Amino acid sequence: MTGGVERPYVSKFGDDPAHSHTPDPEFFFSPAIFEAEKRGIFYRCWNFLCHVSQLPNPGDYVTGTVVDQAIFAIRGQDGIVRGFFNVCRHRAHQLLKGAGNVRSTIRCPYHSWTYDTEGRLRHAPHCDSVAGFDKDAYSVSPVRLAEVGGFVLVNLDADAPDFETWAPGFERRLLAMVPEAARLRHARTREFTIGSNWKVVVENFLENYHSFYSGPAHGQLSNIIDQATYSWQIDGKIVEFAGIGGNPDRIPYRMADGRAFTGRQEGFLITYLWPGVAFILLPGANVLLVFGMNPTGPETTWEPLLYYTLDGKLDAATESAVDWFNDILGPEDVEICESVQRGLHSMGYRAGRLMVDPDCTARWSEHFLHHFNRLNLAAIGG
Ligand code: FES
Ligand SMILES: [Fe+2]
Repeated sequence: MTGGVERPYVSKFGDDPAHSHTPDPEFFFSPAIFEAEKRGIFYRCWNFLCHVSQLPNPGDYVTGTVVDQAIFAIRGQDGIVRGFFNVCRHRAHQLLKGAGNVRSTIRCPYHSWTYDTEGRLRHAPHCDSVAGFDKDAYSVSPVRLAEVGGFVLVNLDADAPDFETWAPGFERRLLAMVPEAARLRHARTREFTIGSNWKVVVENFLENYHSFYSGPAHGQLSNIIDQATYSWQIDGKIVEFAGIGGNPDRIPYRMADGRAFTGRQEGFLITYLWPGVAFILLPGANVLLVFGMNPTGPETTWEPLLYYTLDGKLDAATESAVDWFNDILGPEDVEICESVQRGLHSMGYRAGRLMVDPDCTARWSEHFLHHFNRLNLAAIGG
């Protein structure tokens, strides 16, 4: 981004993670930072939308948002999945809601302009009587779309690099984790709304420091991994975490025998892709979780959690694992993030010290947060 945000709020955020503080509190609630992130990050990056299995037939569509921009993906009559802004070219009414099938026509609910599944305006009532009306000039505005290991990502920036250039090696890593990714089926979606800045949510997701201390479910979380085997890699916009599953007697949910997916068989695997999506495998669970951390305002985050399995169903053991993840662990993290968001406004708090292992090898080390915020700052020009 050229120019950059005027005040990036990084008075004690240094280049060296081992000596750095966090960004200043305002970095996590300033409307100016939020605007800069919208334009510098989310309007320009590849954003997760869904999986192709959610669009099996011509006319199938899935809607979504990139911060405040409504979008949808639809499979055309020609079998190709395309992305569009979810807005009518007449007077800006939203075209589609939720997910479903339009058959062959997208009809705007306001004045009934109709578009084909490739986005071309087919008919507008009375258009033959309107002077010089050119149907070809009012196609639905396209959004770029990439299929990555069967997952659909969208980019609002027509000039953005293609996905592989933008996140080299991501697809290879995802397919190494779940070689079956492209033929997975959507099983369920859960959604959470959190009263905190999206970066607070991502930071909480990325650091393992709190896992040892913060609450009873986190104590259980540290048990699902054999901590001695826990390792990670940072590669540009990608962070990977891996660990062998912990002692089965101490895992807080029912374990499936083995795992249905081939590929990497460590019990616990995460592939995080900047800015806000993570692909997760839990030990003893036959499901790939996709976890979105999407800003909806300077201090609100929308978290969709999508489950993908080989047959679109959750077996009983996997069900118990995702219930634990959603209903036991999730609420503890939501409470943490919302407490932090309130604390960031406290007159008694300024930038805090990042707890970084000088070698960046200890499993408690917070150097991930430094890396994450460096990516954010580079994107907003701060
Ligand atoms: S706004 Fe869509 S038809 Fe008028
Ligand atoms: Fe947590």
